[in-house]
Amino acid sequence: MRMVDIIEKKRDGNELSDAEIRFFVSGYTEGSIPDYQASALAMAIVFRGMNKREIATLTDAMEHSGETIDLSAIQGVKVDKHSTGGVGDKTSLALGPLVAACGAKLAKMSGRGLGHTGGTLDKMESVPGMNIFLTDKQFEDQVNRIGIAIIGQTGEIVPADKKLYALRDVTGTVQSIPLIASSIMSKKLASGSDTILLDVKFGTGAFMKTLEDARELAKTMVEIGDSLHRDTRAILTDMNEPLGLAVGNNLEVKEAIDTLHGHGPKDFVELVTKAGSIMLQQAKIAKTEEEGERMIQKAIEDGSGFRKLLELFQAQGADISYLEHPEKFPVSQYIVPILADRDGYVSRIDSLEIGLASMKLGGGRATMEDKIDMSAGIVLQKKVGDKVNRGEVLAYAHTNKVGCESVFQEIHDAYNLSENEVKMEPIVREYIHK
Ligand code: URA
Repeated sequence: MRMVDIIEKKRDGNELSDAEIRFFVSGYTEGSIPDYQASALAMAIVFRGMNKREIATLTDAMEHSGETIDLSAIQGVKVDKHSTGGVGDKTSLALGPLVAACGAKLAKMSGRGLGHTGGTLDKMESVPGMNIFLTDKQFEDQVNRIGIAIIGQTGEIVPADKKLYALRDVTGTVQSIPLIASSIMSKKLASGSDTILLDVKFGTGAFMKTLEDARELAKTMVEIGDSLHRDTRAILTDMNEPLGLAVGNNLEVKEAIDTLHGHGPKDFVELVTKAGSIMLQQAKIAKTEEEGERMIQKAIEDGSGFRKLLELFQAQGADISYLEHPEKFPVSQYIVPILADRDGYVSRIDSLEIGLASMKLGGGRATMEDKIDMSAGIVLQKKVGDKVNRGEVLAYAHTNKVGCESVFQEIHDAYNLSENEVKMEPIVREYIHK
């Protein structure tokens, strides 16, 4: 088989056979197929697409390009969730403890933040002492004992995606539903959980700009998961403003704590409650959406979700006095109010701009080598739908840097104000399942 024939076949709009797809994935992973041929094929896929069978084969070949995680030593149904990447997305920190408090098993591998999106691991490490590297045995024992562990990726899972995603990033080939779906699903399937809930974001700052595109990506991923016998479901959530109020590492941890104490922002509480209910149904703990939602609400009200957060952090070595007394977290030297320059109603808050601004204030990484300032970020005071008067505070910028005036302006400009009242939409727009 020759790679050039495979590229030409896809370039001309033909279907690739399973053998051709597997030849590409194994050859690219081991290095016998060079980057220039892989990028040509990726570009052909961007333009020509792939059918369901091709996407399922690509996903399966990528999943098995390296180690796969065996979670069979953990008793019960192992649930997992994945977000396609949001701004202010601290969901795992609240949702994980809540579903675990209700009896689900969450053996989760998370990632670090890059660019405008944050990563759960960085947020967890804003609590001193937190250890995100457990051995397989420690990981399994912890989930068996307390129902939850969140760690960094172990071993070499899906090396094909590691190489291909880095290549796509610099060749203009990220934007393709077959490539995004196979990239995400190969990693989720290799991580070994029994069920997967996908939180597919749409809007500015998300991979998918429109609800329609997000729906197509979600359906594609749900079909892949189901065809490979994992209970896979998806929700489509609105990223036309950041999630909740806080963006930035320890700021988001504090918001997750507030949420577990029953004082979370409305959109975040809605997302956690709906997603939690679906995960409890997948774990066969709740029978209906209503029952699942009631269980999550109860775990917030009776404090069991917060106690589970403490157990999780304690088990992984963190100093939980920070969670019990969040005022102990370091606070930025400069907390700068960003003021509205006219009256209006907030119609949209550009998540991409807010995410990038938070990064520039020190709260994120431009490259993987950058160090994060855990206290830096942005705390929104106004959200979509809110009425704003000229001179009122839209948001606070938190930073230890000087000379950030242009960033403050960017935060200001991320707010779109309309003269007319703005209709509020629910954050969870659709639920997709078999
Ligand atoms: N996230 C991934 O893991 N892969 C993609 O291709 C896009 C988003």
